[in-house]
This record gives sequence, C-alpha cells and structure tokens, in this order.
Amino acid sequence: MKVIIRDTKQEGSLWAAHYIAEKIKAKAAISSEPFVIGLCTGSTPIETYAELIRMYKAGELSFKNVISFNMDEYVGLPKEHPESYYSFMHKYLFDHIDQKEENIHILDGNAADLVKECSDFEAAILKAGGIDLFLGGVGEDGHLAFNEPFSAFSSRTRIVTLTEDTLVVNSRFFDNDVNKVPKQALSVGVATVMSAKEVVVLGFGPKKARAIKEAVEGPMSHYITLSAMQDHQAGIIVLDEAAAGELKVNSYKYFKALEKVEG
Ligand code: GLP
Repeated sequence: MKVIIRDTKQEGSLWAAHYIAEKIKAKAAISSEPFVIGLCTGSTPIETYAELIRMYKAGELSFKNVISFNMDEYVGLPKEHPESYYSFMHKYLFDHIDQKEENIHILDGNAADLVKECSDFEAAILKAGGIDLFLGGVGEDGHLAFNEPFSAFSSRTRIVTLTEDTLVVNSRFFDNDVNKVPKQALSVGVATVMSAKEVVVLGFGPKKARAIKEAVEGPMSHYITLSAMQDHQAGIIVLDEAAAGELKVNSYKYFKALEKVEG
C-alpha cells in the first residue's frame, strides 16, 4: 500500500483523476477489452470527477469503453431523490461524459428482491472480467463503501444496516434530520473492493485524520474496514495534509520518500 500526500484536496483530487485517466488510456492502448472501474459517491470524489469531465470535454479521454460499478446505494430511497447515489452519479459524472448507459451499474435499493440484486451485481462484475480499479472514499469511522465497523473482510455485496454515527454524519444531506436518512443500504463488501486489481481511496480533511491513522498504522481490523487496504498489492490512499495530520512523523516521511523514489 502506498500513501500519496498532497497539500490540498484539490491537488489530491487532480492526482487521482490523472492516475485514473492514465490507467484507462493504458488499457485502451493494448487491448479492446473495456476498462472496468468501481466508483464512489460522497463529497470527496467530486473534484476528481470534475477533472475527468474536463479531460473528456477537452478530447483527452473517452469513457466509451468503460464499464462502471458503484459501491453502494441507500435502500428504499427513490432513484429520483436528489440524494440517491443514482442521482449523485448522474449529476457529478455520467451526465457529462460519453459512458454508455448500459455500462453503468448502480445497485437498485428499491429492487423487489434485494438479495438477488446483490448477487446479480457480483455476477455482473465477474462477467465484466473483474474490476480494474476501484475508487473509494472513507467514512469518518473508517468505513469503506458502507462496510461499517465489524464488517467481515470476506464480505461481498449485501444489505447493510448503517451505524448511528453514519446516520448522523450523512444527515447533512437530509436537512440535518437523522430520521430522514435511510437506515439500510446495499453495499459492495470489503472483499468485493479488495478483489479489484487496483484500489485508490481518497481521504480529505481533518475529519478523516483519525480513520486514516488507524487504517494506515493500526492493526488490520474489521473495526476500521479501510485497514483491509494494508493487504492489497496495489492499494493507494490519496490524502491532503489535513487527513494525513495524525500520521506519525516517521510514516509521513516514509510515504513522501517512497513517492520520490517510485513516483
Ligand atoms: C458514505 C459513502 C462512502 C463515502 C463516505 C464519505 O458513507 N457510503 O462510500 O466514502 O460517505 O463521504 P464524504 O466523501 O462525503 O466524506
């Protein structure tokens, strides 16, 4: 696992967008197979998506041969609700790029059979050839997707119940009314994310610093599901200075030195 630290969220976001773009272009240069990407929602990836859109509009990047799978979706929230992850993804990415609608996979939190919805999602990932790169964010409690504390590292896509902490944090999107936040979601599992060939997780701002410290330096633990990244062969955590603020000085210096040598 590598940790990339940039001064600001904007710089970290640009780093991630360019990393993703290079991966899409590199695969297209050697293969006609689609690039399969896992995507996340939240305030964290918005600038990264904006830069990907800019590159598309500048003619530098195409999503015509990209298949995407989103990490999670609330259960029972209408698809058209402005805070559904379906709405989010269209607003911040899909409505502005040339990705084909049939190549967009977002879990349906209103499916008649939610268990089947989850197993069909895993099957679709397999059918697409597995995920080349999973882009994720992190919750303040260290959750990855909606894999709350105590999620098994072997977990796959399933129905999850959100913790009180997450309900409170996410209530900012629901008129600050915790009762309006759906209590359950469909989420890829820790193993679904870790099965991707590469995983890039973004963490920005001081509110993520504790989770980042525990995920990077603490023991691997289902209490901080992001800590599963420690065992990924090609895992990168991208931080701004604020989110890196609780790392030990030695860890901070090591990751900076590593980047200088390895790029
Ligand atoms: C939600 C999502 C996560 C996301 C997290 C962080 O809980 N399920 O996938 O990483 O929020 O959100 P934000 O980026 O707004 O801090």
